Amino acid sequence: MPRITVPELIAKKAKREKLVALTAYDAPFARLGDEAGADLLLVGDSVAMTVLGHENTLSVTMDEMLHHSRAVARGSNRAHVVFDMPFMSYQASANEAMRNAGRALKEGGAQSVKFEGGVRYAGLVARLVDAGVPVMGHIGLGPQSVNTIGGYKAQGTDPQSADRVLEDAHALAEAGVWGMVLERVPSELAALVTREVPVPTVGIAAGPDCDGQVQVMHDLLGLDERFRPRHAGEYATLAGTIRAAFAAYAADVRAGTFPEPRHGVQASDILRAHLRNFD
Ligand code: KIV
Repeated sequence: MPRITVPELIAKKAKREKLVALTAYDAPFARLGDEAGADLLLVGDSVAMTVLGHENTLSVTMDEMLHHSRAVARGSNRAHVVFDMPFMSYQASANEAMRNAGRALKEGGAQSVKFEGGVRYAGLVARLVDAGVPVMGHIGLGPQSVNTIGGYKAQGTDPQSADRVLEDAHALAEAGVWGMVLERVPSELAALVTREVPVPTVGIAAGPDCDGQVQVMHDLLGLDERFRPRHAGEYATLAGTIRAAFAAYAADVRAGTFPEPRHGVQASDILRAHLRNFD
């Protein structure tokens, strides 16, 4: 089955078909997301926290992102794979951003790149799109700016800040993004942005009126009981299930009840006879 293309993603807005997006960081979960019908698999820089154990998203490198992106591409057939440009892979210069975005498509197997920022990055978006790199924007809360903002705070919550979000959305749409993530902004603002821009908006903690929704798969699946954001819903709590399976395995190994004969390789009569020579 061919992968979902940028024109197909854009067309979903006119058809009022919601875009379904999930993060994915490896082949098995990419396969499950793909089989479940996700339109977008986002190789998010959230991998830094969800998989690599970092405190925030800033530490993950371009090479690490490429490693995860290749796995997601290998594990999926239909979903459009979006490569999240990591911190300082696009901020330092447009030329470096172009080279890194090229690597995302050529080496990472992705079909689009995503990066955080609005008006300030409109020029870069235009250059990338001109060069044939599909771009998804990301406005509202940009987790890569955690140190500037002082936490993962909602954006667009007062009139000036809401105007900035709206300006960012317009600037990105005019520059040529095919869609944009709206993170942690009031639902009413997200609804307005969604009405105003011609490309799909994909919300996270941005209310129900966006053209689609994205969630971090570890939050959705409840893989970390210490951190369960309200906006991820309650679709599964797998941490407890997985821990119980590990504990049952450990108990069986210690009790000598695992493995059973059916889990192993049985010797042939000839081998058994041969092994008896050593008794
Ligand atoms: O890295 C990520 O997971 C993201 C989503 C929050 C949209 O950018």
